[in-house]
Amino acid sequence: MLNEQKVSYSGVQPSGNLTIGNYLGAIKNFSAYSELYKCFYCVVDSHAITVRQVPAELRRRTYETLALYIACGLDPEKNTLYVQSHVPAHTELAWILNCFTMFGELSRMTQFKDKSEKHADNINAGLFTYPVLMASDILLYQTDVVPVGIDQKQHVELCRDIATRFNQLYPDTFTMPEPIISKSGMRIMSLAEPTKKMSKSDENANAVVYILDDKDTMIRKFKRAVTDSDTVVKYAEGKDGINNLMTIYSCFTGKTISEIEKEFEGKGYGDFKLAVGEACADALMPVQEKFRQILADKAYLEEVMKKGADEAAYYARKTLSKVKRKLGFVI
Ligand code: TYM
Repeated sequence: MLNEQKVSYSGVQPSGNLTIGNYLGAIKNFSAYSELYKCFYCVVDSHAITVRQVPAELRRRTYETLALYIACGLDPEKNTLYVQSHVPAHTELAWILNCFTMFGELSRMTQFKDKSEKHADNINAGLFTYPVLMASDILLYQTDVVPVGIDQKQHVELCRDIATRFNQLYPDTFTMPEPIISKSGMRIMSLAEPTKKMSKSDENANAVVYILDDKDTMIRKFKRAVTDSDTVVKYAEGKDGINNLMTIYSCFTGKTISEIEKEFEGKGYGDFKLAVGEACADALMPVQEKFRQILADKAYLEEVMKKGADEAAYYARKTLSKVKRKLGFVI
């Protein structure tokens, strides 16, 4: 809570081209809070460098992610939109919280284990303490809700554990955040291996539909999606590919699973896949058009970033001072 107003906080890494998983699992749900909550949505560039980035690409994607936030309906007048590295309080609090986070807790994080396998030549300390920086993001703003996909739930739970530990030693420091996971889009799977999460870092571009793919590419990718040898469009155990496509179709059209089953009764997978591709394109083409307009105006984006960072820094400083006072730092 900040000044009696509930707070929503979330972030997206500018570490790759954003996917429909990022859109359906997270960004699309951010605007639901704009009216009633104080909302902070961050482009988390400091998190992105836990994996090697090409500097020019990181810079470009930082602008792009901010432009996508706005194109997806986040009004910078109603939401605080900013870049993580513009508010140094994040990394300052992260150091402090590192001293309240256990080695064993961080060792259990599945994202750390996955990323260590994937980047075996670069298992750096930042990758290990990644969740502590994420906890700092959330706790700095006295956050009540954190809209994320299910893959981030473990990190938000660790954040709660850190906050509980800190609050036990220094009462009333942090608000306890709650992860909010959208039922429908919580885990969008890869089109090539539907038991694996769709991920912006996947090397197989056909496994992933990007928010900025053109219509033909979207339709082609859905056409090629891995399914099964059955022919009935039905949500059932063992039909991971079809279940995933039904989830995606449901998210884009608002139809329920049983409505979808009825709609495709007597039709084959080919018709269904085409419909999923078209529904995805219909939803995202207007977003893309807005995105291009916004991205073309770099001065506007820089103004949004600056205003967002000033606003965020104001609240972040308040929490950081409180934390330092409680710890006994001379401030
Ligand atoms: P990131 O950048 O990996 O993903 C951004 C958001 O997209 C969601 N997501 C998905 N949802 C459903 N299906 C998928 N296939 C899929 N792929 C990604 C993620 O769950 C996430 O919500 N650590 C975070 C960024 C972060 C953050 C924060 C989030 C940093 N600080 C503070 C919340 C609060 C991350 O790596 O997200």
